[in-house]
Amino acid sequence: MTPVLDRPGIVLGIAALVLNEGATDENAREVIAAAVNSGAVALDTARAYARMDDDGVGERLAAEGRRLRPGMPIITKAGHYRAGPSAWSSDGSAERLRADAARSVELLGGPLDLLLLHRADRADDLDDSVRTLAALRDEGVARAIGLSNASVEVIDRAMAVARLDAVQNRLGLGVDAFTEYHHCRDAGIDFFAYAPFGGPRASPLATRVPKVWMLAAARGLSVHRAALAAVLGALPGLWPVIGSTRVESVRDAMAATTEDVDDELRQALVDDLASRGVPL
Ligand SMILES: NC(=O)c1ccc[n+]([C@@H]2O[C@H](COP(=O)([O-])OP(=O)(O)OC[C@H]3O[C@@H](n4cnc5c(N)ncnc54)[C@H](OP(=O)(O)O)[C@@H]3O)[C@@H](O)[C@H]2O)c1
Repeated sequence: MTPVLDRPGIVLGIAALVLNEGATDENAREVIAAAVNSGAVALDTARAYARMDDDGVGERLAAEGRRLRPGMPIITKAGHYRAGPSAWSSDGSAERLRADAARSVELLGGPLDLLLLHRADRADDLDDSVRTLAALRDEGVARAIGLSNASVEVIDRAMAVARLDAVQNRLGLGVDAFTEYHHCRDAGIDFFAYAPFGGPRASPLATRVPKVWMLAAARGLSVHRAALAAVLGALPGLWPVIGSTRVESVRDAMAATTEDVDDELRQALVDDLASRGVPL
């Protein structure tokens, strides 16, 4: 199967750039530009990354970012939408998925590189949702399809209906297990690991990967950069989806793709994750 992205690397997710309190389009544009110019392999957005007065903002900002590097893939997601100032709803029906996909095509300016069912864990009729995504792929609306927030059981059920190209699940380092990654790897499905730093509310990354942190400090790197480099070096078929909201942090994180990953760094990650009970 052809991978969704043509090379390993880091994806910038733009949820926080749109949804955080006080988020501005100006900052979002700067951070997205910094990511694109420092080598992000794709941008991650969704129909749900919307504001009450602008339902297309998440996809429009991604489309603007792509103008800096035409052809850069954009991941988007359907079937989950903003229903109020602090409320989101899920609807994986064929009607909703088709309507969301059509709006995404309009905002992104062409066929979708990867269309995911945003809340596979909440689908009322998963088979129908997957059949609809597969039909959208057959019709050329999306080049690739997949699920987000999917357990191994949900992935298997979906694969019995249609071929999946990708899965996007949370994989906070030192927090989440690698079960779905390994399952996808065995099945030849690309895996997008969102919130690798654990998101904005997690305990500090350094406390979850202390050996990586010590090595990073000795080498003059941030723990975020060293951890991402180790992940890229140890986990083929996995693309981290990070959520930096500052130009400095996005540049720092993206530089992980050019770090040399040696056995010592890889082993530090392996040891840290094993000691947290979530081994590689
Ligand atoms: N499919 C889904 O249902 C789903 C759900 C949630 C998220 N996502 C995707 O995943 C993306 C990432 O999620 P997230 O924002 O929760 O995860 P995250 O990347 O694990 O965490 C973001 C936090 O890490 C910090 N950070 C990033 N790089 C750093 C660096 N080099 N140095 C210091 N701090 C750094 C950020 O700080 P600063 O803000 O200060 O830069 C921010 O506080 C989202 O944007 C979205 O695209 C998908």
